[in-house]
Amino acid sequence: MNDKLPRSHQLFHEATRLIPGGVNSPVRAFGKVGGTPVYFRTAAGSRFEDVDGNTYIDFCQSWGPLILGHSHPCVVEAVRDAAQRGLSYGACHEGEIRLARLILEALPEFEQVRVMNSGTEAVMTALRLARGITSRNLVIKFSGGYHGHFDGMLVKAGSGLATHALSDSSGVPADIAGTTLVAPLDDVAAVEEIFRVHGGDVAAVIIEPLPANNGLLVQRREYLQFLRDVTAAHGSLLIFDEVISGFRLRFGGYYQEVGIRPDMVTLGKIIGGGMPVGAIVGPARLMEGLAPLGKVYQAGTLSGNPVSLAAGIAQLETLRDESPYARLEQLGRLFETTLAAGGHPAARAVRMGSIIWPYLDSGAFPRRDDAIAPATVERFNRIYWPLLIQGYYLPPSAYEVLFLSAAHSEAEVTGLAGALAVELVRTENA
Ligand SMILES: Cc1ncc(COP(=O)(O)O)c(C=O)c1O
Repeated sequence: MNDKLPRSHQLFHEATRLIPGGVNSPVRAFGKVGGTPVYFRTAAGSRFEDVDGNTYIDFCQSWGPLILGHSHPCVVEAVRDAAQRGLSYGACHEGEIRLARLILEALPEFEQVRVMNSGTEAVMTALRLARGITSRNLVIKFSGGYHGHFDGMLVKAGSGLATHALSDSSGVPADIAGTTLVAPLDDVAAVEEIFRVHGGDVAAVIIEPLPANNGLLVQRREYLQFLRDVTAAHGSLLIFDEVISGFRLRFGGYYQEVGIRPDMVTLGKIIGGGMPVGAIVGPARLMEGLAPLGKVYQAGTLSGNPVSLAAGIAQLETLRDESPYARLEQLGRLFETTLAAGGHPAARAVRMGSIIWPYLDSGAFPRRDDAIAPATVERFNRIYWPLLIQGYYLPPSAYEVLFLSAAHSEAEVTGLAGALAVELVRTENA
């Protein structure tokens, strides 16, 4: 590919002198798949064009927000219109009510929404609110779950199950990491043990109900129900982090798919239509713990930014009115069947609607991070660049999921699945 990407290489070289590692978010670096990042200059629908004039079908879709594809005309028009009326007010406007209404129409079990600028902010605030309301300090998260880049969530499990966590990142004080307890996914005994030892101090359990940041580790419904029951029994809150899964499988949350109602839901990505937004959704009795009514502080110069909210409103209205979900499910199924038709025993994918994780191994699909077969990572790394050269842009890591959008065509989806199956065989025999 090197000879096809001269301008990308030049820009990355320049970027590494000005920006740490050349990237503004580490997942964009190509460290895991080798090589250096592609630089893009335009995107529309399912397509990307890079600075060297190469075109790609994009299966990353900005890591999930773009369920309608890049630059959907209704979103772009809403942004243009909003921008002409002011880029930021730092004051109240009607868009805030419209977005809150749309979100609550889709998540009718809840009563209020607070909007901020990112998923990280949403989770950070939800956990602060949980601690403020319960007057407890500890939070349980799951190994392999990602909830943003603030101190308390950048942790890994300590040496024993009920021990306090260590940080994954330097710069996080041990005292802060220690307020998070980490359990393996799909493990009832581990969570029971934590509650046995620390029950009265646990403010909240936070989980991606559809964990999609370390592969796609689909949980058993019974496990999510267990978390509902155990938190209720101990007076802790259950928070579903739906920054990825919210509005991805239906006009609403994944909690509705499984029929389990958490105490609060965090949202991001899709509700911003490609612009920076995050939100917490919950019942008024909890949400009113936030300032200015309550004592839990959260604020933001650009929170509820009118341009971002216009994008979110346009995307959510389109999802509600045009409901692309059945078609996305069909596209996903087509991907699976085409991949399987390739005949390679490792040509498989874990899939939930339009979220696809190529699981390139013949073993059982994992439900926890330590059950992921190393072979899938090795195979993914081998096929990454051959697929990129053929014009398929995938997230540059074996642990990341692919996103289909309403803008993808059947031919594009079968094209990727077919090419993936062929590359598996070719690179294995090479
Ligand atoms: C489940 C989940 N929670 C929180 C976040 C953080 O969101 P953001 O990157 O918008 O800060 C992410 C980001 O990928 C996520 O997937």
